[in-house]
Order: sequence, then C-alpha cells, then structure tokens
Amino acid sequence: MTVLTQLPAAAMPLPEAIQGFTLEPSSHSPRLLNLTLSREVVEAFLAAVADTPVQALEYKSMLRFRVAKVLDDLCGNTLQPVLINTLVDRATGGLQVTPEGLDEVAQAEEMVKVATAVAHLMGRSNYDAMSGQYYARFVVKNVDDSDSYLRQPHRVMELHNDGTFVEQDTDYVLMMKIDEQNMEGGNSLLLHLDDWADLERFYAHPMARREMRWSAPPSKNVAKDIYHAVFDVDRGGRPIMSYIDQFVQPKDFEEGNWLTDLSESLETSPAILSVPNPVGSFLLINNHFWLHGRDRFTPHPDLRRELMRQRGYFTHAKTLRNPRQK
Ligand SMILES: [Fe+2]
Repeated sequence: MTVLTQLPAAAMPLPEAIQGFTLEPSSHSPRLLNLTLSREVVEAFLAAVADTPVQALEYKSMLRFRVAKVLDDLCGNTLQPVLINTLVDRATGGLQVTPEGLDEVAQAEEMVKVATAVAHLMGRSNYDAMSGQYYARFVVKNVDDSDSYLRQPHRVMELHNDGTFVEQDTDYVLMMKIDEQNMEGGNSLLLHLDDWADLERFYAHPMARREMRWSAPPSKNVAKDIYHAVFDVDRGGRPIMSYIDQFVQPKDFEEGNWLTDLSESLETSPAILSVPNPVGSFLLINNHFWLHGRDRFTPHPDLRRELMRQRGYFTHAKTLRNPRQK
C-alpha cells in the first residue's frame, strides 16, 4: 500500500491509502504521475473479464462501465477517486499508466480492456469517427499516404488539443502503445499550459477570444466545420485551450499570423516534455490544459507502431463537467 501524500486538494474524498497500484511523480515532470497497476490486479482483472471480449464492449456501452467497476473493486475502490482527482487537478492533470505484465502486441485485446476500464472510471469515451467505435487502433509505418500528420513518421506532429473540430466534449485523451518495431525516436511530446512561458502573452491578446473556423481533412469523417476561439476559461478562471495547427482555418492575414506566432512559441517552448511510452502503457491527460504531440522517428523500412486512442468527457461528478458548460 502507498499512502497518498503528494496529491493536492481533492475534487472528491481521497482514500487514506491505495490498493493494487502505485502512484508517484514521473521523472519527466511532477505534473505527470506514474500510475502502475500491479501484476496481481491486472491478472485478476483479465481473468474476471475473460468472457467479455472487446466486441462486447463495442456493442454494449454499459459493459465499459462494468469492466471499470471490476477493476476498481480489485483496487479496493481506491482507483476511481485517484483518477478523478488527478484528471481535474490543474497542478497535475496527467498520468502515465502502466499495467504490469501487458507488454506485447499479442495482448492487444487485453490492453484495450484495461484502458477502457480506466477511462470509464472517470469518463465516457466518445464515438471515434475515424474507426466507427469508441476507440481507434491505428498503425504507423515507414510509408504513409494519409492526409494529416497523424501517421507520418518522419516529422514532428505539433502540439495540439484533440476534439478541436468536433462538437463532442473532449475532456480527456488516452493514448496507448500497442506495438512498436524498429522504432527510434517518436516520443510523446507534452506541454502543460502553466509551464508555457508565453501563455499570458497569447491569452491576453484580443485574438485569443475570437471565434475561428475549424475543419478536418476527409479521413476524419467529420464533414461539418465548427467555430470556437483558441482560448477559453475554466471555472477557476484559468486559461484553457482548444487548438490544432493543421485544422484551424484563419480567415485573414491577422488571424493567420497570430496563429503562426502561437505555433512557433509552443513548438520552441523549453517546457515541452519528451516522454517515451512503452508498449502496454498509456498516457491519460486533461485535454483542456495539456497539449500533446509526437516527436519524429528515424526512418526504417520495417518500422511499425500501433496505437490505440480514446477521447471522451468527464462523467463522474459535477466538478468534472467540461468547463465550457458553464
Ligand atoms: Fe491528438
């Protein structure tokens, strides 16, 4: 058991002690917490949900919450409050979750189950238009013919928020590594808004609150443009962002140049974290005040990386509602 001494003010009562997992600050930043699910809990969880294939989770939404309960019960009901509090805590808001014993692509189904359980302890994952499911698995290879930088390995995918061009609330993003072969580089890049030195300068600019147009390329299967400003404010009065460089459509010279300045400032921030995410692990971040991206890879003819993502909205407590829903 690990006693919770490092967590800040809570959105819901925290347990005196935790069971079945450990929690400690990441070596990359005290804002990112490493949560390791013990091998015993992972094995017991997988045994308990052995008769619930991923297809059942796809067809019956309610079962995603049931597998979440199974996992939390195995942790003495101490996992849920820790997840909820960490995700909404502005000082942290980010986790790297490692389920012990899940580390090869043959266990991909099991990985999806564990990630689904964790996500549904504090939220509900949105329909993903790219896959037609509540999650998406996709492969990055050495050659790519897609229409965005998502799957292009040899360049940086710039820092952004998810959900900028959809109407669904996107409070959290979960990014899991399912497979990795012949990879060098390609770390996840993360930036907490409060570590970005230019936050105040851009947030104070009148352009920060101007509604802009956001549209996606065809592969995203999202036909309709949406309109919102790059910055908003949460219930605590702190800036939050909804931004992605590839899909914002500036209407004029002024908007285009302000956005380019913003992009250059983000990409050159010394506060960017470069975090390796091993096979079987996943990053789970608050999408309103953490930006994410991906570093470039070294080309290799047999390069293969498979990823799984879930994006969704907070459900558990009123304190978790999307700050846009004032
Ligand atoms: Fe993303």
